[in-house]
Formats: sequence, C-alpha cells, structure tokens
Amino acid sequence: MTDQTHPAHSSFSSSPAAGEGSDDAVVSRRADVDPSDAASKRVFVRTYGCQMNVYDSDRMAEVLGPQGYRTTDTMDDADLVILNTCHIREKAAEKVYSELGRIRKLKDERGPEGKPLMVGVAGCVAQAEGREIARRAPVVDMVFGPQSYHRLPDLIARAARGESVVETEFEIDEKFDALSRQAERPTVRRAPSAFLTVQEGCDKFCTFCVVPYTRGAEVSRPLAQILREAEQLAAGGVREITLLGQNVNAWHGEGADGRPWGLGRLLRRLAEIPGLDRLRYTTSHPRDMDDDLIAAHADLRELMPYLHLPVQSGSDRILAAMNRKHTRDDYFRLIERIREAAPGLALSGDFIVGFPGETDADFADTLDLVRRVEYAACFSFKYSQRPGTPGATMADQVPEEVKTARLIELQALLTEQQQAFNRSRIGMRMEVLFEKIGRMPGQITGKSPWLQPVQVEAPQDMIGSIQTVEIVGLGSNSLFGRLVAGHNDRAAASGAVSKEDAI
Ligand code: SAH
Ligand code: SF4
Ligand code: F3S
Repeated sequence: MTDQTHPAHSSFSSSPAAGEGSDDAVVSRRADVDPSDAASKRVFVRTYGCQMNVYDSDRMAEVLGPQGYRTTDTMDDADLVILNTCHIREKAAEKVYSELGRIRKLKDERGPEGKPLMVGVAGCVAQAEGREIARRAPVVDMVFGPQSYHRLPDLIARAARGESVVETEFEIDEKFDALSRQAERPTVRRAPSAFLTVQEGCDKFCTFCVVPYTRGAEVSRPLAQILREAEQLAAGGVREITLLGQNVNAWHGEGADGRPWGLGRLLRRLAEIPGLDRLRYTTSHPRDMDDDLIAAHADLRELMPYLHLPVQSGSDRILAAMNRKHTRDDYFRLIERIREAAPGLALSGDFIVGFPGETDADFADTLDLVRRVEYAACFSFKYSQRPGTPGATMADQVPEEVKTARLIELQALLTEQQQAFNRSRIGMRMEVLFEKIGRMPGQITGKSPWLQPVQVEAPQDMIGSIQTVEIVGLGSNSLFGRLVAGHNDRAAASGAVSKEDAI
C-alpha cells in the first residue's frame, strides 16, 4: 500500500488543491519565450512535492525565459534539467536519486561529443542535503534551495565555468522582491486557474516535519506585492487563484493605513479584483483560523466552499507528541464554527499513521475523529522518520507492518467518505470553471467548487469560462455533468446565474 497522492497531481483532481506533500512528480510546462525561436536552449523541469514547488517551477521557467530557454516536456532534448524536489517523506527524497541515475545514463549516451547537459537539483532535498547531493550523484552541476531561484542565471553561468555550485542560503525577502519584479512583465495569457505564494516557511515545528528546516522561518509576502501579482494574473485571464503557504492562514500584512491585515482581510480585497471569481487558500493550520477568516467564508461568494485543514491524528496524546498544540476537541469546536459560518463547506485533511508511540487506542481515536468530521477528501501517510526532526529519534517507533495495516484501514474509511460526498452531488446544480479539453471527444473538463473534476459535453471555446452544470453521474475519479441552458458565464454575459443560485 502506498501513500495517497497529492490532490493536485492525482487522477481525481488536476487542479490546485488542498494538501501538500506528494511523492509524485509533475512536469512543468510554462514557457514565456517565443516558441518560434529554434535557436533557443531547452530546459526540462521535473516537479515533486507540494503546490509551492509547482509555483516555484513556473517561476524558474520564467526566470530562464529571457536567458533564451524554452521549456520542454522531454528530457531527451534538454540542455538543462532541473529537479525541483521534496523532502517530506523518505520515499519522496529517494526518488530524486533514482531520477539522477537515469539522467546520468542519458548524459553517458550523449557522450563527450554530444549535446551538453547541465543538471540542477532545486527544492527541499537541495536545501536539506546541500553538497551531499553532488557527492552522491556527481552528475549534478548545481544544488540550490527554494530561496535561490531568482539567481538561476548567475548559478548557470558559474556552473558553465566548471564550478560545482551549492546555494542554500535563506534570503526569502530577496526572493519575494524578485518574484514581484517578474510579475510586472507584460500580460501573458494564462490558464484559468493559478497559484500565488503569499507566505513561505513555518515556525510550528511539528515533531515529524522537515518543512521548518527546508523552507525556513515563516515569512509573509507584502500586501502590495500580492495585489500586484493577483491583478496581473486576472489581466491574463485567470479566474481562480489559490493562495499558497506552508501555513497560509498565518499570513499577515499591513494595510495602507498601517493597520494589520490577516488572511481574511486579504481575501476580501482580492475578491474585489474584477475577473477573479474564485479564491482558495492552502495549507491552513487549525491554530491560525481566526474569526475574520471564518467570517470571510460566510461573506465572500468568491471564496470556494472547500477547506483543507489537516489534523494529522485524532488522539490527544499523539497530537501532543506531534507538537500540534491543539486537542481533538479544539479541532471539533473549530469545525463547528466554520460549518456554522459556511454550511455548504466541505473539508479535507491530512493524516499520519504510525507516529512513534501510536497505540491501537490512539489509532481508534483517529478513525473516530474521521467518522465524526466526515471529510470530502483526505491524504494519509505512513509516518516517515526524517533526519534532524525530533520524531526520528523518539522511542517506540511503530513497526512498518502495523503502519501499513493502519493506513489500509484509514484509507478505506476515507475513500468511503469521499465516494459518499461525490454521490451527494448528483442532481445538484453547480458552477464549474472549465480548464481543459476532456478525456472523451467533445468533452471539456472543469472543476467544481469542491475541487472535483467535472466532465461535460461542451464546446472548447468554453474553456476559461464558468458555467452552470447539473451533475448527472459519477466516474471513478470525476463527476459527469450537463450544461444548464441559459446559465452563462458572468464574465461572458450579463444577467447570468448568481453564485448563490448555483452553489
Ligand atoms: N503545512 C501543512 C502540511 C505540510 S506537509 C500542515 O501544517 O499541515 C504535508 C503533509 O505531509 C502533512 O500534513 C503531513 O500529513 C505529511 N507529512 C509531513 N511530514 C511527514 C512525515 N515525516 N511522515 C509522514 N507524513 C508526513
Ligand atoms: Fe510541517 Fe507542522 Fe509546519 Fe505544517 S505546521 S509545515 S506539518 S511543521
Ligand atoms: Fe515537500 Fe518541501 Fe513542499 S518538503 S511538501 S516540497 S515544502
């Protein structure tokens, strides 16, 4: 039994989604260079892990555009390969080394006379392991952490001179400034749904987690930068933005009058930007859900009725050992308040089974919590010992076979709940944001307010629009719907269906 995949990359949802920490990879395809430029170099970026890595990979492609690089979907014709890596679980980190083995073979096949290949390792494995990567895999020319992407042109130049580049300093403000300068480029046409990083890093230090070490301390991106990027995205045709942060609901900023802003206030401001019809944010920590953010769910029709709120365990003993700093009752009370404010809201979460010291009774508490909350979708993982985290050296590590049995049991329950949630959408009318061509001829695929993929027979020119759809059936991983006649996109026609009608 393997861990469940990240929703952004799983077959269930191809969209920005709740949850972080996939062990799966996706290929980044953004290119801001003129595709007719046959003389340009090619960069292949493979992205592992969470949505923030997806966002960062796109930014790397953007930085490389003016350097003459186009993105490519195959490694075979690449001049530069970048692996944007994840360190969250052992399996995720080890994948990088097997990929580096394949790259080494490719380089050998090209031979000394063939096209040169430069190799970079970015992301959280780079940050955690630094020089060790190049020692273990000499094919690697550059190792650089998540705060160094804007310096890529310089790193490439140094590597081209034969230097073995290792760049893992934390200077996050500089990165945010550079991201903002990038956002000031002329408007480019974009996919209907986009990520926007508003916060990076984490100060929570859950005892199982590497993120505070790989992404550094919690830093919020300044308000003005965020608004500028959001306006730029909207001008490029983006209809949905997912705000990203390892602790996104800890975001804080300052308004023009010097007053403090929290995430709720930010969402209210973003909802005013014309064309931005859908807002999401991920990942939230239960301790940072403040009253204003909860109220925003009641007040903003743009804020989608779906919240990823990981709890990790249902046992108070294990929650304390994990340093989560909340109890199961705190979590129940919080959910009650959120559901009171936004009755149609659906929840997703992350769970870890087999944390050190977890007994059968602790695990039973987790199952009980899941039964009481009723999730729409969840991600669950076997505990993985991460070097340098307190959990790794705790006594009473749980045997692998116990972890496996618990994961199977938990996932069966979570799958049941997900199927029940999907079934409950049948017959419902909802707004769907169409994003791409569908699986079958004549179909296009969109996303429901609850992040479910929806397949509909509709013309391709509806991609990028929001339409009212009635759900008529269920696929294994998606919903099937039909367009509701007369309910057109608000942006495309006046007098269209209101969100209140549709959700
Ligand atoms: N910031 C988010 C999640 C970050 S990592 C939060 O606070 O919840 C994404 C998920 O990976 C976590 O929610 C957790 O369920 C899982 N995860 C993190 N470290 C892990 C580990 N050592 N072993 C197994 N799963 C882990
Ligand atoms: Fe990791 Fe905990 Fe921070 Fe989430 S809150 S990133 S699980 S340390
Ligand atoms: Fe992985 Fe780093 Fe994201 S460890 S989950 S890529 S923050």
